[in-house]
Amino acid sequence: TGHLLAIEGLEPPHISALLDLAESYALLNRQGKTQRDLLKGRTLINLFFEDSTRTRTSFELAGKRLGADIVNMSVSTSSVNKGETLLDTAATLNAMHTDLLVIRHAQSGAPALLAQKVDAAVINAGDGTHEHPTQALLDALTIRRRKGRLEGLIVAICGDVLHSRVARSNIHLLSAMGARLRVVGPPTLIPSECARLGVEVHHDMRSGLEGADVVMMLRLQKERMNAGLVPSPREFFRFYGLDAAKLAHAKPDSIVMHPGPMNRGIEIDSAIADDPERSVIGEQVEMGVAVRMAVLDVLSRDLRRNT
Ligand code: CP
Repeated sequence: TGHLLAIEGLEPPHISALLDLAESYALLNRQGKTQRDLLKGRTLINLFFEDSTRTRTSFELAGKRLGADIVNMSVSTSSVNKGETLLDTAATLNAMHTDLLVIRHAQSGAPALLAQKVDAAVINAGDGTHEHPTQALLDALTIRRRKGRLEGLIVAICGDVLHSRVARSNIHLLSAMGARLRVVGPPTLIPSECARLGVEVHHDMRSGLEGADVVMMLRLQKERMNAGLVPSPREFFRFYGLDAAKLAHAKPDSIVMHPGPMNRGIEIDSAIADDPERSVIGEQVEMGVAVRMAVLDVLSRDLRRNT
């Protein structure tokens, strides 16, 4: 397509090829080797309308390691504050001959809308409650490195699934690759589409985690909830926070994931988050750079054909 807007619709061979390429970048990154000329002369703009630590930094690092010129647009000090619309902002960036536009936006569908209006390759860095495709790719790469495969694994995605673009992208990717998906959370935080997507729904952490190979925790997204409907942190942790007692139901060699940012003591106990035997949270962040290098590499091939 020339853009990366969603995981939904990607075919398994394309996903595998992206993961293979990302794996090779992960090895180069560990060896401290960079490939500085692949994106030489290309411009990448990070356009983040929502806060980010991992995604924005790793797109910047990934672009720099491939030789691109990077501009981090600070939306909070931009003319968006003077009332400029998303599409006018996009047209402005387009007039500056941007090659790659990485966008995060609170509105589901904003990156797809932009992709129709600009010449740049658009990458969705998270849109509302819709998708966060590079997060699912980095999660899949981390799982594949730890477990050697995706097919047949039992993956439990736990907590605030309703507001999670991370969960949605992971469900699409991991189902396409043959994993067995479960979601675990209170009925108020599980979207009805899970059943339609063939995902097992659990409201009890014990049954949800039973025999799981991968336990993926999600952040409780208070900013997307009506203030009156935010669960009490203490009660949420008691029933759905991952601690040693709940994790004991998963396989003894299961891995624990969290996309970050974490709410320690709400969805995950610090002792689990920091357990070097089980937690792969640091590796997820590391793989984020490699995956974004792979995505930039693949999308820039279309750009090369266009010039
Ligand atoms: N996982 C993730 O998207 O983190 P950031 O919000 O810090 O980018």
